[in-house]
Amino acid sequence: MMPMSATASPLAPLAPSPVAPLSPAELTQALDVASGAVRRSLPDFTFAAQNHSSVGNVYPAVANDQWTAGFWPGTVWLAFEHTGDPVLRHAGQIQVQSFLHRIENRIETDHHDMGFLYSPSCVAAWKLVGDADAHRAALLAAEQLDERWQEKGAFFQAWGRKGRPEEYRYIIDCLLNLPLLYWASAETGTARYRERALAHARTTLAHSVRPDSSTFHTFYMDPETGAPVRGATKQGYSDDSSWARGQAWALYGLALSYRYERLPAYRESFERLLAFYLERLPADLVPYWDLVFTEGDEPRDSSSASITACGLLEMADLVGGAEGEGWRDLATRMMGSLWRDYAVKPPSPSNGLVLHGTYSKKTPHNTCRGEGVDECVSWGDYFYFEALTRLKGNWTSYW
Ligand code: GLY
Repeated sequence: MMPMSATASPLAPLAPSPVAPLSPAELTQALDVASGAVRRSLPDFTFAAQNHSSVGNVYPAVANDQWTAGFWPGTVWLAFEHTGDPVLRHAGQIQVQSFLHRIENRIETDHHDMGFLYSPSCVAAWKLVGDADAHRAALLAAEQLDERWQEKGAFFQAWGRKGRPEEYRYIIDCLLNLPLLYWASAETGTARYRERALAHARTTLAHSVRPDSSTFHTFYMDPETGAPVRGATKQGYSDDSSWARGQAWALYGLALSYRYERLPAYRESFERLLAFYLERLPADLVPYWDLVFTEGDEPRDSSSASITACGLLEMADLVGGAEGEGWRDLATRMMGSLWRDYAVKPPSPSNGLVLHGTYSKKTPHNTCRGEGVDECVSWGDYFYFEALTRLKGNWTSYW
């Protein structure tokens, strides 16, 4: 375990990693293998959703009522982009109908995860094939997210009944929900969507990053005054640790925030958070599920590495130059490690793409249920495929 007081060395040059970068031949192979796996899973998940995580490395089919349901159709769209296979396009558009039904009937939508749900499923379908129902569904989802806005404190409330004092908090993950609002603002001309998303990102930067450049998972605000109250974890090891996926959501979220508003603070914070993250990575660049662990046999969270790779590639595109090249190189090495040692390769009984993700591990110090430990996780598969697609080049983002 890493002592909690240890600090990152901000802005130090990236140390070369012993992990070899994903080669062009490996990239093609990884994209082909992932696309083949998606194609083989269509009988199970064309008219159903994929569970948030696998059970014994096999995803069950479930109803479209979890916060994670958007990742499977997102993965289908990425496979469609790689192969051009019309069967994948058809499957993606069948999923759109399920997402339209879900938002029209407000089925398990009383939370902030509208971006996770509707960007990879419906914004993607609109951008790629001009599906009008997808456009309508994504705009309804943006409207729903906008309803979670809390003026006092300037944030979108994550969970629970809106305004309930015990639930008056946002979470670091929400940075990935914001692009839905930027998109909806541009589509409809509703400036409020964009202004609130920008404000939420600034609130997150102001309170969720600790002085040592680690991050709080969730953050409570005062419902009377809007003042910051305290950080707490739900899925990390403890309130004062840094959950590996939370740090990854922060990294990718800061890069996306920088895309939509060129605040130097987003870039500077990205560099500092990255330094903290890198100091806690095992040699193969895939973190333990909480960054308090730097060695031993705790489970990994491979999804954190894929999300971070996407953040590195996004920031590399925005910043360019030698620094951008360094981030791209690092992402390529992370993807090399994931492809060689974590990706599912045929023949395998698993219907996932990447092994060794961790959804939520119960500890005496956190409040999660404890599920999906050392399994494939739906967003892990999606962001792995997204990072591969980014490396292939010329990708139009769903975010
Ligand atoms: N957004 C919840 C999670 O990453 O598990």
